[in-house]
This record gives sequence, structure tokens and C-alpha cells, in this order.
Amino acid sequence: MRKLLVAGNWKMNGTSATNKKLLDGILTHADSFNSVDVALFPPAVYLQQVQQALKGTNLSWGTQNLSQFRQGAYTGEISAVMLKDFGCRYVLIGHSERRCLYAELDLDQLVLDHIIAEKYEMAISEGITPIVCIGESPEEHARGETEEIIGRLLDITIERLGVKALSQAVLAYEPVWAIGTGKSATPEWAQEVHSFMRERIAKHDPTTAETVQILYGGSVKGNNAAPLFSMPDIDGGLIGGASLDVDEFVSICQAAV
Ligand code: PGA
Repeated sequence: MRKLLVAGNWKMNGTSATNKKLLDGILTHADSFNSVDVALFPPAVYLQQVQQALKGTNLSWGTQNLSQFRQGAYTGEISAVMLKDFGCRYVLIGHSERRCLYAELDLDQLVLDHIIAEKYEMAISEGITPIVCIGESPEEHARGETEEIIGRLLDITIERLGVKALSQAVLAYEPVWAIGTGKSATPEWAQEVHSFMRERIAKHDPTTAETVQILYGGSVKGNNAAPLFSMPDIDGGLIGGASLDVDEFVSICQAAV
């Protein structure tokens, strides 16, 4: 039985004061979702604040990105060693907002997928679990290319790192058309894609396919989380907007119990 994980991606939101309110509010209810893994992803400058608030609780934390390089002259970047230093359990990799908005515009899609595989390698080398985000754009969705896009990233990762490396990771299916739009994928659609992902991995190693956690992300709210999480291949959610609201986020965590 796979454990469910609810990950709250704060993106570029919050101040020390609003974070405190959010953290206090979530922690007040933490006993009600004890059986679920819950992790928060603040902007990196607030990592210490989040670490201090969550240390000793059943919640964990991580960052929204990391460098593919180990250390040195990489202005503005954050290394896996630094994440470890701050007790991060997870790191998000390949979020579509990074893929679309940063640099990554100049890059060929294939090169980008390789950089994501490098970041993945870096995270696991420090014992940090990467949450690898993949999903199709609205155009790719309309052209029916979902499986091609997702299959390619899985293949590159498996080819580069070996299928066993996936057992040290979490995957997140995040259709770009569902992120921040209020239009979540239906539980049936998400289930179909998750099941495709498991089948693709199973061709290399059925045990890894069975055990890897696969999250769904894209407009998950308190009122649609339960039907998504009840699907057999959906192991929790990656939550953006709703992770900034105590009531919404707590009800999503409770839907995973
Ligand atoms: P959303 O974002 O929940 O606001 O749609 C999800 C994500 O970007 O991970």
C-alpha cells in the first residue's frame, strides 16, 4: 500500500508574517492528518523559518528548485548540499513554471529533460527525494500528445539513472492546462495518465512501478481532492494556490487520510 503525500508549493508568495499565520494554522490541525505525508515548499529565503516551525512535527519541507551543479560560480542558484543543511526531505524538479518561464525557453526540449535528470541525480546524491513534475501544455493536450511528452521524460530518466533510481523519487503529473486555472483534470483523466506512467515504468521494473508515489497537481482544492485521491494510481497531490489558505490546505490533507 502506497502512502499518500500532500505537497504544498507556495511558489513566490508570502512574507515572514503571513508564513507564520499559515504555519500556525496548519500545525493546529496536524493531528488530523497524521497518517499522511505532508510537505511544504516555501520560497528558499523562508526555508529556515519553515524548518524551525516544522522541526519535530510530522510535516516535512523542501525547496521549489535546485541547481544541477554541486557548488561554485553559479549566481542565484541553490545546491543540494545546502538543502540538506536545512533538513529538506524533498525538492521540486521540473515544475512547468520553471520549464516555461526560465531560460529553458532557449533550450531544446530534449536538453531540458536532460538538465532535469541532472538535477534529479544531484538531489538523490544528497539523500533528498526529488518530486519530478511532468505534464503536457494545453497545445500538446489538444494534439493528443500527453503520453508522448510524459513517456519521453520517464525514458530519459530511466536511461540515465537506471529504473531503480525512480524508487528514490516521487513523480507528479501536472497538466499545464490545469495549473492555476481552476480547471482540474477529472479524476478519470488523471487516473488514466497515472496508470500509463506506471505501465511505462513496469516495462523496466514492475516493483518500482508498483511502489513509486505519483501525485496529481493542477487546481486541487478542498472540494475536489477526495475523488482524485480515491483513484487507485493517484497517491496524493501537489498543491499550489490552495496551499496558501489554511482551511483549504487542511481539508486537502484530511481528504488524503
Ligand atoms: P495550482 O498549482 O494548485 O495553483 O493549480 C499546482 C502547481 O503548480 O503545482
